[in-house]
Amino acid sequence: MSIEVVPTRAAVGAEIRGVNLAHPLDDATFTDIEDAYNSYGVIFFRCQSITPSQQVAFTRRFGEIELNIFGERWSVPGNPEIVVVSNITEGGRAVGVRRAGENWHSDMCYTARPPRGTMLYAIEVPELHGLTLGDTEFASAQAAWEALPDPLRHRIEGRRAVFDFTGRKRAFPPTQQEIDRNPPVTHPIVRTHPYTGEKCLYIMRDDCTGVEGLEQDEAEALIAALADHIVKPEFVYRHRWRPGDLLMWDNCTVQHRAIQDYDLPQRRLMHRTTMGGTVPV
Ligand code: OGA
Ligand code: MN
Repeated sequence: MSIEVVPTRAAVGAEIRGVNLAHPLDDATFTDIEDAYNSYGVIFFRCQSITPSQQVAFTRRFGEIELNIFGERWSVPGNPEIVVVSNITEGGRAVGVRRAGENWHSDMCYTARPPRGTMLYAIEVPELHGLTLGDTEFASAQAAWEALPDPLRHRIEGRRAVFDFTGRKRAFPPTQQEIDRNPPVTHPIVRTHPYTGEKCLYIMRDDCTGVEGLEQDEAEALIAALADHIVKPEFVYRHRWRPGDLLMWDNCTVQHRAIQDYDLPQRRLMHRTTMGGTVPV
């Protein structure tokens, strides 16, 4: 099977054509997909029809599945690896985690070994007056790094930021046990991608609460400046979902946010899996 890689016109993202994810992939095809994923940061496949088990099997080819805090509350029955992301309620109970990630972020950056990537499979996509709602935006932290002026690059290279689980406001406040399980960690502000060797910025406005070796005021100003720089329009791709899309992003080179512009009766239903990553360097 030979795949077709069609880049978006934005700084990240490519559509992969010619793949049916309901069938097992041979190694050569998988390698082509993985190469596209590593170089484009976001890849997506349209018109898929896959079961939860097929999604889990595809995710596993990229690494061990990472279990997420949301999975303990909202997983697919029989598939604890899949988190349901949805605004739907059934019998008064939410079927999934709602309002996942409305502020720019990279998933689980507050852990010592953040996940390599995250995959969303769109089952229901909200629509009103024939217009699609509930897009997701992706920003290239690699293009953002490449656009930095040299003096700023020199100022931040080798520095580490503090990532604090309690820094981000969440739709569902974490329990004390979750807070205890996630003590603050530090990561390099300039990360090197584990597969491509490319550099990118790794800093987020809410999760980062300080920079080692800098006074708090100076650290906060630097975090804000870099976080705002990453999400400038020229680095952003906005994905308009269609049912049957399977999309995955790289949590090293890409930040993302959900656009919350819909509400019931417009329904959104996604199945989410996460693949284990490496300690940032
Ligand atoms: C996530 C997330 C965005 C969305 O699942 O990690 O941020 O648009 N989702 O659902
Ligand atoms: Mn997210």
